[in-house]
Amino acid sequence: MWTYQNPVKIVFGSGQFSALPEMIAGRSYVLVTYPDSPFGELTDQLTAKAGLPELIINDIAPNPDTRLLAEQSARFAGLDKMPDVIVALGGGSVIDSAKVFAAAAGDFSKVLHFLQTKTGEEALSAIPIIAVPTTAGTGSEVTCWATVWDEENSRKFSLAREELYPETALIDPALMLGKPYGLTLATALDALSHSIESIWNVNANPVSARHAVAAATAIVRDLPKLLGDLSNLELRSSIAEASLNAGLAFSNTKTAIAHNISYPITLGWGVQHGIACSFTLPTILQSVIGIGGFREDSLKDIFGDDLTKGADNLANFLTQLGVGLRFADHKIPTESFGAIVDEAFAGERGKNFIGSKESFLEAANQRGIIQ
Ligand SMILES: NC(=O)c1ccc[n+]([C@@H]2O[C@H](COP(=O)([O-])OP(=O)(O)OC[C@H]3O[C@@H](n4cnc5c(N)ncnc54)[C@H](O)[C@@H]3O)[C@@H](O)[C@H]2O)c1
Ligand SMILES: [Fe+2]
Repeated sequence: MWTYQNPVKIVFGSGQFSALPEMIAGRSYVLVTYPDSPFGELTDQLTAKAGLPELIINDIAPNPDTRLLAEQSARFAGLDKMPDVIVALGGGSVIDSAKVFAAAAGDFSKVLHFLQTKTGEEALSAIPIIAVPTTAGTGSEVTCWATVWDEENSRKFSLAREELYPETALIDPALMLGKPYGLTLATALDALSHSIESIWNVNANPVSARHAVAAATAIVRDLPKLLGDLSNLELRSSIAEASLNAGLAFSNTKTAIAHNISYPITLGWGVQHGIACSFTLPTILQSVIGIGGFREDSLKDIFGDDLTKGADNLANFLTQLGVGLRFADHKIPTESFGAIVDEAFAGERGKNFIGSKESFLEAANQRGIIQ
């Protein structure tokens, strides 16, 4: 028995940003975005047609942190009434922040209490969200969770609630044309990791696996081409669609061990999320050879029937894109490896992983990634 569910309405197409005012449809709204270009221009285009928002929160910083989220959430408290809808125009940091604002409705302490104690969910709100991703990576436009970082205490939370699925995901690949090389690379690798992590996952099902195969196949095929031709709209569309498919896959499974290994690496050594959650993928792939069933079939659909060769090909794919596969390549000291891996396997995402720590360590030794 398995079930697959995703309630988000998806609108996909180059130039579809112009349809956003119709989606807001006269409702009161708060716009959440970044301070820099091209988001100011996009804000002007939107407000010219949709009317002024109740509030613009345009100081979203990468990796939303509890301290800034508290301050930004409080700005909602100054409104006469909560908006009908929140429009999130940006990457994962913007969409995840919008989810926090939707749950907080002006009072971040309710969200923090829920994150810290797993109680008090009934006090949370759920303002509808229209998500307009400007990166192709996180899939946050079709998931019901947000990553909340707590840098001060070196930890991260996951705010997860069914009510936080956006009402609409508006994906316009033309908005992604200006993404620089490094951001294009890291975000696409995040999507690659989501897709593969949803396959070697206890929660995988045949529908999530189909989305994952479509996503990973497109990224392996098209990402190197896109990195050599950043203004190619067709390739941008392919990677945007792949990121969406990866989102649809892991919206039903959550992520697994590669993500759990990544969090302390991002917090401790500042490695970008998409790089931190993808450099271990070849090792993990090697470690799950022989798991059988539709999961192994799906991995073979992506990487070919010989998964040992597939793991090598994936390693070459990453190194050719400039991603080092050893912990040392990311300035992580050898002595930190054991604790990172132990903690990753013990955590919730680690338990989603269908493989074992023993096989992972064996593959890590064989591939020489622990120096
Ligand atoms: N909710 C989820 O399911 C989920 C999944 C994976 C990651 N995440 C979270 O998402 C965050 C990362 O999001 P992200 O990788 O999308 O990046 P981001 O939102 O942090 O943005 C990074 C930078 O990219 C710039 N940028 C974004 N779009 C651009 C564009 N079109 N053109 C030029 N510059 C642009 C922004 O100005 C910003 O400075 C992390 O906090 C991560 O934990 C959430
Ligand atoms: Fe991710």
